[in-house]
Amino acid sequence: MALEKERVCVTGAGGYLGSWVVKFLLSKDYFVHGTVREPSDEKNVHLSKLEKASENLKLFKADLLDYNSVLSAIVGCTGVFHVASPVPSTTVPNPEVELIEPAVKGTFNVMKACHEAKVKRVVVVSSLAAVVMNPNWPEGQVMDETCWSDKEFCRTTKNWYCLSKTEAESEALEYGKTYGLDFVIVCPSHILGPLLQSTVNASSSFLVNLLKEGYESMENQPRVIVDVRDVAEAVLLAYEKPEAEGRYLCTAYTMGIRDLVDKTKSLYPNYNYPKSFTEGGQFMASSEKLQRLGWSYRPLEETLIDSIESYRKAGILN
Ligand SMILES: NC(=O)c1ccc[n+]([C@@H]2O[C@H](COP(=O)([O-])OP(=O)(O)OC[C@H]3O[C@@H](n4cnc5c(N)ncnc54)[C@H](OP(=O)(O)O)[C@@H]3O)[C@@H](O)[C@H]2O)c1
Repeated sequence: MALEKERVCVTGAGGYLGSWVVKFLLSKDYFVHGTVREPSDEKNVHLSKLEKASENLKLFKADLLDYNSVLSAIVGCTGVFHVASPVPSTTVPNPEVELIEPAVKGTFNVMKACHEAKVKRVVVVSSLAAVVMNPNWPEGQVMDETCWSDKEFCRTTKNWYCLSKTEAESEALEYGKTYGLDFVIVCPSHILGPLLQSTVNASSSFLVNLLKEGYESMENQPRVIVDVRDVAEAVLLAYEKPEAEGRYLCTAYTMGIRDLVDKTKSLYPNYNYPKSFTEGGQFMASSEKLQRLGWSYRPLEETLIDSIESYRKAGILN
């Protein structure tokens, strides 16, 4: 008798990171329930083209704010990867409604559905945005899993995305602890790497703009970069390793934007790069805990080349 495949659910399956998580799960022979808001939307067609998708991927129409739609996708699954959350490219007019509510209530709904459906483990994708926004952290001191963004500071500086991720992670933590759910949290830094979908997401548009816009001057802010494929691996590791627990920062390279531009320029000299830089701050974060779990990351050069080649293939960049 053929063994029944393990069923898992990925929320936000059609997004940038979600698509890679689905791809890796399919390649490891999981049966995947993927949630998307609009299954017939052009932007999700890449999912049906993934290897083994025709047999092992089932899409569910679900909005994070609609509990029953979330529950329908999760019922029957032993594991859930909560990836969906709004990630805007620009400022949003109504952050409470557009960002914070879907992130926080969405996380609550996913956790509640996991509890109701007796899911064995939930992996929640948070962000370094929930870690680093702390004005009192000494410059130059390495940040780790004990660090949390200051919600009040996020609010007063109108850093709504950071607030949404910090509140959402707190929600996951509180619900998980209260109801005894087995959950693991992964906090990736700025994600780059190839796109599977045809539309450009917010973190990739940062690199596209660096190559295209020809900015006169830019602040040499620190950037903390990780490859989308390495994040997907981290998320799977967090699910599959029984000893995984708590939070994991997931980041590979820290560098100023100027160094990032220099590195990219050495590979692709002919784009319209920023012309000058003003001084920025310093920042350091460690993924040692994740590395102890068995995680490793690829060379930055590979991330940059594969990103740019995928933008060209998608017609986003010449
Ligand atoms: N990219 C980064 O640099 C980065 C870094 C750290 C953490 N993260 C986290 O990684 C996760 C994925 O981000 P991404 O970069 O892959 O962004 P993305 O491509 O914009 O994907 C976001 C996903 O969330 C879904 N979503 C948003 N609001 C929703 C709602 N109300 N109901 C259901 N689904 C909803 C979107 O679905 P639709 O397709 O229907 O809009 C989309 O699939 C997020 O949790 C983000 O905070 C990203």
